[in-house]
Amino acid sequence: MNSKISNICCIGAGYVGGPSMAVFANKLPNINITVVDLNKERISDWNNKDLEKLPIYEPGLSEIVRKTRNKNLFFSTELKQNIAKADIIFISVNTPTKTSGFGAGKASDLRWIESCTRTVAEFAKGHTVVVEKSTIPVRTAEIIKNLLNSYLKKESVNSNKKTFSILSNPEFLAEGNAIKDLESPDRILIGGEDETSIKILKNLYTNWVPENKIICTNLWSSELSKLVANAFLAQRVSSINSISSICECTGADIQEVSKAIGTDSRIGEKFLSPSPGFGGSCFKKDILNLIYLCNFYGLDQVSNYWEGVLKINEWQKKRISQIIVEKLFGTLYGKKIGVLGFSFKANTNDTRESPAIDIVTDLLEEKAKISIFDPKVTKDSIDNELKNALFKLKSRNMHNIENSELKNWNYCEDINEVFNNADALIFLTEWEEFKSIDWEKVSSLMRYPAWIFDCRSIINIDKASKYGLNVWSLGKSK
Ligand code: UDX
Ligand code: ADP
Repeated sequence: MNSKISNICCIGAGYVGGPSMAVFANKLPNINITVVDLNKERISDWNNKDLEKLPIYEPGLSEIVRKTRNKNLFFSTELKQNIAKADIIFISVNTPTKTSGFGAGKASDLRWIESCTRTVAEFAKGHTVVVEKSTIPVRTAEIIKNLLNSYLKKESVNSNKKTFSILSNPEFLAEGNAIKDLESPDRILIGGEDETSIKILKNLYTNWVPENKIICTNLWSSELSKLVANAFLAQRVSSINSISSICECTGADIQEVSKAIGTDSRIGEKFLSPSPGFGGSCFKKDILNLIYLCNFYGLDQVSNYWEGVLKINEWQKKRISQIIVEKLFGTLYGKKIGVLGFSFKANTNDTRESPAIDIVTDLLEEKAKISIFDPKVTKDSIDNELKNALFKLKSRNMHNIENSELKNWNYCEDINEVFNNADALIFLTEWEEFKSIDWEKVSSLMRYPAWIFDCRSIINIDKASKYGLNVWSLGKSK
């Protein structure tokens, strides 16, 4: 096996593949890296001369793309030739939760993993290290291995010399912080059976990651660790969110409680911010994968335990919607509600599983008129998310909303449009610019009695209250 790496190919130019390979290219200037995707529009966006128009918003990403693109970083729709020349192939395709068939709503849909593995099997040449980077269910490496081997058996008749080794190298980047996470990760996890391939991948990372941060395990430990890391993080969010409701009833303040418990070094201060619920493409999907795995092995108590984390997350969104309706005299009919922030967290344009989707859908069901502002999310993304939400409600026969009502929202290019005549403002994403809102100006634009619902603890309650605004803040009793 040749341990000199000249060409890397990454299949999937999404939130994982794009930023990961940009950082790889920056750190490994002597290696050619090509990110391939079937989606022509996405590739053309990655190649856009205007770096503001990259398909993904991520702080620091455009600077790295500017430095590396068309030098040793390439974006292409040419799968065949780039797979053929690659020494290492990273698989970073999407793995959403299945929506129908066995395991619907829980298991991951592996059709994209299967189809890109087949392409790899067909076009790879010589020895290729295949690395799974997508978030995947445990034992997906086995599926990849079996598929690749089945092609080898067929081709061995034609005495083709191709060989593969499979590694698991899950990505732990958090959106909005991806570049920092990739440049100085807490750890790199490499799972595999073949020592030589593990060493090849490890040697790539040691160009910028200290060796003691690289953990090597067997394939299954690596795959499971990714699910467990996300499940533990999500569990912390559900834990603090469950406590936010107790604070509201008892007079405790969630910020004070978070600080008090976070200073215990065994607990730690991170991931203790109350929120309208966790979103993003990973947490829910990974817990569902874990639940599916537990059920498969008959571990019902374990699966019930993790289901609790998801139930609190759903409940948190629902109870926020209910509080909004309650505070506005039990009816939102015809009222204008401003929604600030639609992405699932700050510093990303990603809306997947954003709590804003469910909360806005609830408010539309209550016949409110919604104005939405988000500094990075496009109107099309919001439109797609709301349409999908309605489709899901309808398919579960839970809809109480007409298509026409779903159109009762508008997209604001300018934040001031949200304030005009609004009865309430709901802060759903913790964008930095929301922290410096001019409350005097806002209060002069809103209709009274005016409500502010702060679901991210970013509003200075005293300043806003000074102008007669009613402020409800998650996890506070006033
Ligand atoms: C997560 C993991 O952090 C990352 O390691 C993995 O690779 C992918 O999944 P991501 O989903 O991008 O990353 O963002 P993260 O920062 O983990 O936030 C997830 C959700 O939890 C967001 O909706 C965020 O608002 C919420 N959250 C996070 C809270 O509500 N409170 C917190 O204290 C922290
Ligand atoms: P993630 O957040 O995991 O990166 P995304 O959905 O953002 O997920 O990106 C996954 C990308 O993988 C998409 O751009 C999709 O077009 C691409 N993709 C899916 N299947 C294939 C395939 N067989 N070959 C090439 N690209 C693929």
